Amino acid sequence: MAHFLGYVFIAAPKKSNSTYSLKGFWMEFKYEEPLTGFSDGLVVLKSYHEDFLERGKQLLQLAANIKQNGMNEDYANQCMEAYCHYSHATHLHHRDEEQSLFPLLLGSSVLVDGMIERLIMDHEEIEESWSKLAKQLSNPGTITNFDYFLHQATEFEKILREHLIREDEDFSPQVKKILTSEQIKQAGEKMAELRHLTV
Ligand SMILES: [Fe+2]
Ligand SMILES: [Fe+2]
Repeated sequence: MAHFLGYVFIAAPKKSNSTYSLKGFWMEFKYEEPLTGFSDGLVVLKSYHEDFLERGKQLLQLAANIKQNGMNEDYANQCMEAYCHYSHATHLHHRDEEQSLFPLLLGSSVLVDGMIERLIMDHEEIEESWSKLAKQLSNPGTITNFDYFLHQATEFEKILREHLIREDEDFSPQVKKILTSEQIKQAGEKMAELRHLTV
């Protein structure tokens, strides 16, 4: 399911005489939603979590490959693809939770309110870590310190993964106890609405 079309400018490194020079080109980018529909808000969130976990492994592998082999055009394209996907997915997912799910739960209990407060703080931390990594991923030609790039990718992947596990293992069981099936449907409809889609 794709709902976004855009063009991104890639400054890809080209190797010549053992040095890299930048050659820019435009690449079409289509954002693929990692799900098949919005009829169940909790399924939407879970689908994003599974996609983040899988992409996190790919990101770490990419950073390890770059460290081992140096930057090349294929890796630069993978950096741009990761940049484009995460830029959309992270923003959309946090907005889904903060605008479609959390408002349905606030006030349910002191425990749940505390969890939501913590999760929102996590989102800020994830976005801060992402903005550091995004600067490098969006300009692969400028990635010259491969150890530092791997360190930033590792830090971002860890912060995001630990947050996802907290949501899946601690928060989700509470959510399922509180929400009715009608509210879960409403949450999905709100997520579709935020994307200007109809369910
Ligand atoms: Fe979250
Ligand atoms: Fe989440």
